[in-house]
Amino acid sequence: MKPITKAVFPVAGLGTRFLPATKASPKEMMPVVDKPLIQFAVEEAVEAGITDMIFVTGRSKRAIEDHFDKAYELETELDLRGKTAMLDLLRNIVPKNINCIYIRQAEALGLGHAVLCAKPIIGDEPFAVLLADDLIDGDPPVLRQMVDAYGFYNCSLLGVQDVARADTASYGIVAARPIADRLEQVSAIVEKPKPAQAPSTLAVVGRYILTPRVFHHLENGKAGSGGEIQLTDGIASLLVEQQVLAYRYRGVRYDCGSKLGYLQAMVEFGVRHAEVGEQFREYLARRGENGAAAKPQTAAIAPLPRARAETHQLTGNA
Ligand code: G1P
Repeated sequence: MKPITKAVFPVAGLGTRFLPATKASPKEMMPVVDKPLIQFAVEEAVEAGITDMIFVTGRSKRAIEDHFDKAYELETELDLRGKTAMLDLLRNIVPKNINCIYIRQAEALGLGHAVLCAKPIIGDEPFAVLLADDLIDGDPPVLRQMVDAYGFYNCSLLGVQDVARADTASYGIVAARPIADRLEQVSAIVEKPKPAQAPSTLAVVGRYILTPRVFHHLENGKAGSGGEIQLTDGIASLLVEQQVLAYRYRGVRYDCGSKLGYLQAMVEFGVRHAEVGEQFREYLARRGENGAAAKPQTAAIAPLPRARAETHQLTGNA
């Protein structure tokens, strides 16, 4: 069995739901407190043993490449000023053994097309797909859970969760029957069905492990609405000849493709943040007592003591 060492990050999407913020900046670079969404996804992949990160990018996404590249000027400045903690933070964004590979998806032809763009690099190996919009807080991280399940079942796996029936039109929805703890055998998958037509309420979220055979199905499948090639359709065709399992992951998902989900993620990661978590919790508690009309408390928040500000853990959340 081939280990999973490659992950695809489709990052060419326009991010229209966050305009104007995403007019000139990639939506994947939007931070949750101080870490961009795409970095959360890459860290999750690293923890699952992935070494080759394949970004399927598009126009105006250069910031993503720059983020995972060396920042000479910034590093030199920080070095000169003796800011070693920040320097370490920057240098450890990508561990040394990780390769970052970029492919351009010239046209927005759908998620399936984006995944297909990675075929020349993936070749004949199973691989992971992570959608950075879906920030999932799991311990162990969700992709690690799925790679472990793959090690046992050796087949394609889809990260799933139950959603409200009213929301099925936002997801790929599976028909499945339980076969083991957290695992279900998928018999059908439909992209964004209306609630009345949905085969269940089990929704695919942005974590996939796929066998390379999916490329064959993506190449030969018909484009769906808007001329887009859907990953869901490729998987629907794949599961006719190969086993595909739905994995009910352990973790909490924040839909950072929506404003509400993004705000929720910001609050949850904010309250546990090593640097500002404590003060943010105090702020929220005060705000709760005072009600929604409470005045902004920024002035009331004491500045961090100097020593603490410089020695705090800079890698994000505690
Ligand atoms: C995509 C997929 C969909 C999946 C969802 C998970 O949709 O097409 O099947 O359920 O991601 O986030 P999107 O959210 O890009 O419209």
